[in-house]
Amino acid sequence: MSLMATKSIERLKAEAAEVGEHSLKRVLGPVNLVTLGIGAIIGTGIFVLTGQAAAAYAGPAIVLSMVVAGVVSALAGLCYAEFASTVPIAGSAYTYGYATLGEIFAWIIGWDLILEYALGAATVAVGWSGYVVSFLHDLGLQFPAAFSAAPGTVVTLADGTAVTAVFNVPAVLITVLVTMLLVIGIQESANVNSVIVVIKVVVVLLVIVAGASFINAANLRPFIPANTGEFGHYGWSGVLRGAGVIFFAYIGFDAVSTAAQEARNPQRDMPIGILGSLAVCTVLYVLVSGVMVGLVPYSTLGVPAPMAVAIDATRGQAAGTLWSGLMNSMPYVVKLGAIAGLSSVMVVMMLGQPRIFYSMANDGLLPAWARKIHPRFRTPHITTIVTGVAVALASGFTPIGILGELVSIGTLLAFVIVSLGVIVLRYKRPELERPFRTPLVPLVPSLSAAVSLLLMLGLPWETQLRLIVWMAIGVVLYFAYGYRHSELRKAETAAAGRTTR
Ligand code: ALA
Repeated sequence: MSLMATKSIERLKAEAAEVGEHSLKRVLGPVNLVTLGIGAIIGTGIFVLTGQAAAAYAGPAIVLSMVVAGVVSALAGLCYAEFASTVPIAGSAYTYGYATLGEIFAWIIGWDLILEYALGAATVAVGWSGYVVSFLHDLGLQFPAAFSAAPGTVVTLADGTAVTAVFNVPAVLITVLVTMLLVIGIQESANVNSVIVVIKVVVVLLVIVAGASFINAANLRPFIPANTGEFGHYGWSGVLRGAGVIFFAYIGFDAVSTAAQEARNPQRDMPIGILGSLAVCTVLYVLVSGVMVGLVPYSTLGVPAPMAVAIDATRGQAAGTLWSGLMNSMPYVVKLGAIAGLSSVMVVMMLGQPRIFYSMANDGLLPAWARKIHPRFRTPHITTIVTGVAVALASGFTPIGILGELVSIGTLLAFVIVSLGVIVLRYKRPELERPFRTPLVPLVPSLSAAVSLLLMLGLPWETQLRLIVWMAIGVVLYFAYGYRHSELRKAETAAAGRTTR
């Protein structure tokens, strides 16, 4: 039987429509879905990486990097929107792969998505830990440095002494809390997420509005600092490298598609959730990054809490004005907003991962326990806990740099496959009802695949190698388990048996 066997869209839809002990609850409307998207998108990327990318690569032109990364994401977003409205199943890119390219590709994407969702959550947990430790420090409380970072990380204390870290305790704690919330319920998780989204959007808006009047035009000149002679260090190549780094800030809009089986009207609302959240965040990102580089010289932004540093610079200028009180408290407001904001990214990422496992287990590619739904909470509790343990281990023991780059390369690979999938499905099943159609096919999906591939190639070779090793492990597991237990394969073998009799 072919490794390229595809699952028919009709079969996928019929499975999604089945109601039973293994079905998820359909409770999410369009507003929930847009907030779910924003919840996943605004996080470590904007609160941490933007400043670092401006300082090291792009300078004030980080604003252009934001636009470039936004365009790459929008191209992929248009492809995701077509799939999510045509095949509204919890498995996201995994399911799209199964419907278009075949089982082995589906497995490869499912395996790859672990990098995006579980490792994505782990990356954000590490960012969360950094902000909490810094906030506690502001309050005069010192969290033991040895227990605030990955093993081997050298943490320099305020008095200049260096400590080698053993384990990242806050990262593990937030992971445990998020896991507990997710086991209790999707509606509860969506509600908590909505509250947090409001907080973080308000914080970003406050920085934009309050900061705008203090922008010093001198900080924005030259807008594109001259290249140092090394690729990626300022100049136009710096704008591109900056885009590659802050691409991480946009990851998450596709997570909306994993909630397709919990949406009340997925055909209509999936594209709204995916494209709506992406549009809101792109506008916020371009504005807030412009304000940050306008407030302080870009070279000062390469720190763990750059947004707080930028807004802190307004204190002196605001002294004695009506704004003074607000500007004095802004650095704390930004840190609190980031702490809340990062936890909601984790909620959505760790909500997406078990739903992908759920779809894979429904197809027989993972063991049956992975599709178990809690009788009372109606959530995939076992896979949620398995995900929680994996995220806790990764976040407790791995440095943020390694995690973040692996997440980006894994996500970009999923974008490439989904974009190509849109073209394949248009060709194979032109008659399918597509409530949302990607414009200008094949141009938009081809461009989407090409730019995503380009960004993948721009990442360091070590990251590319890690991706290859991860994928190789996945292929071995597929032949050891999924290949032999695939429901589709069993059904095809049974059908073949009937015809030969
Ligand atoms: N976009 C998410 C973040 O920036 C992953 O944290």
